[in-house]
Amino acid sequence: MVKAVVCGAAGGIGQPLSLLLKLNPIVTELALYDVVNAVGVAADLSHIASPAQVTGYLASQPDADKAFQGADIVVIPAGVPRKPGMTRDDLFVNAGICNTLANSIAKNAPNAFVLVISNPVNSTVPVFAEAFKKAGTYDPKKLFGVSHLDVVRASTFAATAIGKPGDADKYSIPVVGGHSGATILPLLSQAKPAIPEILNDKEKRDALVNRIQFGGDEVVKAKDGAGSATLSMAQAGVEFTNHVLDAVFGGKKGKIVQSYIDLGAEAGGEGIKKEIGSDLAFFSVNIELGPAGIEKILPIGQIDDAEKALLEAAVKELGPSIEKGVSFQPAPP
Ligand code: NAD
Ligand code: LMR
Repeated sequence: MVKAVVCGAAGGIGQPLSLLLKLNPIVTELALYDVVNAVGVAADLSHIASPAQVTGYLASQPDADKAFQGADIVVIPAGVPRKPGMTRDDLFVNAGICNTLANSIAKNAPNAFVLVISNPVNSTVPVFAEAFKKAGTYDPKKLFGVSHLDVVRASTFAATAIGKPGDADKYSIPVVGGHSGATILPLLSQAKPAIPEILNDKEKRDALVNRIQFGGDEVVKAKDGAGSATLSMAQAGVEFTNHVLDAVFGGKKGKIVQSYIDLGAEAGGEGIKKEIGSDLAFFSVNIELGPAGIEKILPIGQIDDAEKALLEAAVKELGPSIEKGVSFQPAPP
């Protein structure tokens, strides 16, 4: 019996993500929460013949806390998306929404696994961590910043650059750092299978790194004011959520993914700080999932000179974004 909650379930990401979660038979209860239309989306999804029983809650309902009660996992694509000309940092207005949601989770589902999609992820994950610390419910092994869309893009764009776009799902490229521009650090030197045709051609390599770092901007520009990535994010979001569900509730062992996490979650975080030459509190790293969530934090491993330069830039940009999230002061209720 697994209860999943989607916060921001009526939105561009929330609707397809909720649909995809409804199709996962591990989920037996699916609560949709939003400030608008959650009840309608829930009614719609509830007609699909799969195990999950779907309920919808508006934040304004007196019994809205019920959405969270008994939740095992909460996935959060709530908040404003970008328009052309905006950076993710311009979305820091979402910090207030994240803080409110964190308080509802702390009150009603203090043991839930929490997956944060809302931007700017580099800052919103620290906002969740701080709110949980204040509530006395913080378990860093259960808090994940969802940077998985960068990993999906890395495979897709690498296959395209190599001239084999149909083989996108055969390429695996770790992406570490953060989720915004220069903080997104694709480790092309660790690609499986190896991609020497890109690594040995500086122009192609720079272009591929740039496309992965600024893939979000491609969609924002193409949507021309109508939002940012929603469908690819829903797919990436459910892929990541399903990995967590499989590890925690499905008994699957040894799955390694990348996620933007608190480096204090597990002893391996100290090793990362040495590798990146900084004591940043949050970073997207290789993690092994298990029943407790983050089972192990694994080393970044060997990177080449080009990646060392990108790492330096990523660390520099990430510091202030983390600080902004940590020091966020919510408006008094
Ligand atoms: P959207 O505007 O289509 O949907 C957001 C939803 O959140 C809306 O339905 C809105 O009503 C709801 N919402 C607002 N305040 C809320 C609250 N207090 N409680 C519950 N729900 C609330 O936006 P979208 O395109 O779905 O994007 C959502 C967020 O995800 C944005 O911040 C966007 O930047 C981010 N995003 C992150 C990634 C990533 O890789 N992590 C990728 C794409 C988008
Ligand atoms: C993305 O990478 O697509 C998201 O972070 C949304 C955005 O603003 O680009």
